[in-house]
Amino acid sequence: MTTPIKPKFTTTDLDAIGEFTGRVVVLVGEDGKLDQAARRVNRLTRGALLRLTEAEDFAKMTDGDVQDMAFPSGLAACAVQVVRLSRNASVSAARKAGAAIGKAARDKDILVLAGNLKHVADLTLGLVLRAYAFNDHKTGEVKTPGALNVMCKDAEAAQAAYADAGALAEGVFFTRDLVSEPANVLTTVEFARRLEELKGLGLKVQVLDEPELEKLGMRTLLAVGQGSSSPSKVVVMEWQGGGKESPFALVGKGVVFDTGGISIKPALGMEDMTMDMGGAGVVAGVMKALALRKAKANVVGLVGLVENMPDGKAQRPGDVVRSMKGDTVEVINTDAEGRLVLSDVLWYAQERFKPVGMVDLATLTGAIIIGLGHENAGAFSNDDALCNAFLKAAGSEGEGAWRMPLGAGYDELIKSNIADIKNSCGRPAGSITAAQFLKRFVKDETPWIHLDIAGVASVPKETSFAPKGATGWGVLALNRLIADKFEG
Ligand code: BES
Ligand code: MN
Ligand code: ZN
Repeated sequence: MTTPIKPKFTTTDLDAIGEFTGRVVVLVGEDGKLDQAARRVNRLTRGALLRLTEAEDFAKMTDGDVQDMAFPSGLAACAVQVVRLSRNASVSAARKAGAAIGKAARDKDILVLAGNLKHVADLTLGLVLRAYAFNDHKTGEVKTPGALNVMCKDAEAAQAAYADAGALAEGVFFTRDLVSEPANVLTTVEFARRLEELKGLGLKVQVLDEPELEKLGMRTLLAVGQGSSSPSKVVVMEWQGGGKESPFALVGKGVVFDTGGISIKPALGMEDMTMDMGGAGVVAGVMKALALRKAKANVVGLVGLVENMPDGKAQRPGDVVRSMKGDTVEVINTDAEGRLVLSDVLWYAQERFKPVGMVDLATLTGAIIIGLGHENAGAFSNDDALCNAFLKAAGSEGEGAWRMPLGAGYDELIKSNIADIKNSCGRPAGSITAAQFLKRFVKDETPWIHLDIAGVASVPKETSFAPKGATGWGVLALNRLIADKFEG
């Protein structure tokens, strides 16, 4: 388990600066004016800081940019990191600056001289998020983050403002750890066990096992998992922080490993399919964050946990299975398994909870990566108001999302000769036909968004707030959507 750095906020103590042995961080705004702490750093370094801020390179920097002065004389510190950041910088600039500090931090202790910066908690959140590293399976010497001390004018206010941000960091780290885990560790059983541990935070957690899923008629979900020796499970997590009203529902695809099944994937890159539970990981991370910050909202998270394996018991191409809803599906390609899992969980979520709205997240199609790369998730929706609210929330959290179309025309493509629909229909509009398949399992009266996160759940290059690998994309955006919608 990776735990976020726990920052300590204290009022500025100028005399501590000289003796600090880690990395000292000073903030300098556009005007180049040095605050009290920066003046102390400048005096101790006999004017080095001022020479830096008066140099041409500094003028070219924008808010959030950084420069290092290594082993400065006059200070015990191993580096002074100069951050260009104005006192009134926006939330996103403050987070960006924090991320640059977190990226450089590695195993060093950090002293941030934040003065009277407006968004101290956001700078800290950016720092903490970027300092993530998944080291659970490394032996020998591992570099873990050092201590973080943020000195500022009003330490109490900063500490209070960080309470919610800290909950979000915990949620994001929970998601990233789940996504990073290999599939021999994070089996369906282990995933369910980790979710059951959330009970300690006040969440209601229920695990539905195969006999119950069978009774409920979740045949499309069970068909995906029937070739695996790990049993299929649906986990229901409830957070009741609001009144008596119906909950908002989050639904996640939790394929702990996707070999493709009998329609087996090529070997090259197949190891990436440990992240095919990314949707379920985001749902879990949001639920954890909501519980930790005691959100005043009713939210239910449902995840379908299965493993897609080739086996003598595995489903075959050509099989016809009946969904919980009653629609029959011809399985053309066993590698289009995510939609088979989600169809039953979406239906179950609506039958049981009558949610006021529903968002599903899934690493559903390779086609969405072709369309949008690793910058944006694909958003599909039957409700403009909900979708716009989500896109706004994602934008303000710096998480890319782009709306994609749905339309009756695409339904023609998923018609089957022998069943009601088929699960695969070739390459054109691959992400849309997958979304259109899901839409069949969403009632007209349920406002719904489908997020195809295949490109953003785990990425080949670092992002602003995460090293390469698991990002936790969506935890902040969904938390914001829920806050905006129910806690405003
Ligand atoms: N899990 C994959 C989608 C995926 C691909 C996620 C790359 C992350 C990175 C999904 O189950 C899948 O295999 N989809 C197929 C659908 C096709 C058979 C209709 C795909 O995208 O090729
Ligand atoms: Mn697949
Ligand atoms: Zn998959």
